[in-house]
Amino acid sequence: MKKNDYIQNLLEGRKFSIENAVVSAYAPSNIALCKYWGKRDIELNLPMTSSLSVSLAEMGTTTVLKVNDEQQDTIIYNGQQLDVSSEFTKRVIQFLDLFRQQQEIYFEMNTQNTLPQSAGFASSASGYAALMQAIDLLCDWHLSDKQLSLLARLGSGSASRSLWHGFVEWHQGVRDDGMDSYAEPLDDTWPEFCMGLILVCDQQKPISSRKAMQVTQATSPDYKTWPKQVACDLKKIKKAITFKDFTLLGETAEQNATTMHALMRDAKPAIIYSIPETLKMMDKVWELRKKGVEVYFTQDAGPNLKLIFRKQSLEKLQNIFPGMMVVEPFSEFITHE
Ligand code: PMV
Repeated sequence: MKKNDYIQNLLEGRKFSIENAVVSAYAPSNIALCKYWGKRDIELNLPMTSSLSVSLAEMGTTTVLKVNDEQQDTIIYNGQQLDVSSEFTKRVIQFLDLFRQQQEIYFEMNTQNTLPQSAGFASSASGYAALMQAIDLLCDWHLSDKQLSLLARLGSGSASRSLWHGFVEWHQGVRDDGMDSYAEPLDDTWPEFCMGLILVCDQQKPISSRKAMQVTQATSPDYKTWPKQVACDLKKIKKAITFKDFTLLGETAEQNATTMHALMRDAKPAIIYSIPETLKMMDKVWELRKKGVEVYFTQDAGPNLKLIFRKQSLEKLQNIFPGMMVVEPFSEFITHE
């Protein structure tokens, strides 16, 4: 299996042996400003394009990992033990299998999200990044952040970006063995930069991002134009970050997200994550912009929106979107960590 060779290669002779009884790791969630949507290799989770995200500071996942007394893995998510047959559990166990390699060692994984569970924002990105760090601690491997990013990517593509705070770029890479497809943080900070999480629905997605990505790539007639657009958007967003050009950043990120959703809508069968409430919120954002409040949105594989704005607009936006959760990715708490 390609995945096993890949892991062996990355571990550079390190063995899977438990060195610490119990470990804990934290990873922030991240929201892409320039999205990852489509793979060039499904087994190694290699993307068609590079992507760029911003991490959500103290909103993320803490995972406590320890060896289980029982002869099976126990997965606890926000205080609740999950059924072994759930999709979430199956994926986590498959990920753990990659590392324990036939050894009869089982884990208790206790995961706590700081994003409210009902909020529908829970992302696999922070989950797999935290789990990968926990495995590294448990075995005393001392892997580099780059190696952790290369491994977390196997759990979920976007997890490769959740090992750092701030802006993070995931390089698509060109190699077939996947060794050059990892993320790196940008040096830039932007203290005024804010994100607002708007909950319009807390139901489970009708279709997973994994499946939706595959269907879009295989059936959406204009998918072929996506890599070119992403390359162009990525350049603009990096330029916007360097020169603190908020308009360029917001316009490009919003356009990038709406294009991704347009490609999904044209897939067969059509994939539509937005619900009427999502469109109402988009309208509000556009109305606000017309009135001079500079705010943009981005949307992932779900109906909820993430607003992009600067601190100077915070009060106005909190009045208009009372339930909005606000994240300051470059707050003191983060930069002085
Ligand atoms: O990493 P995945 O497989 O959950 O896919 C993430 C897809 C998007 O969130 C829509 C885009 C992105 O780059 O995070």
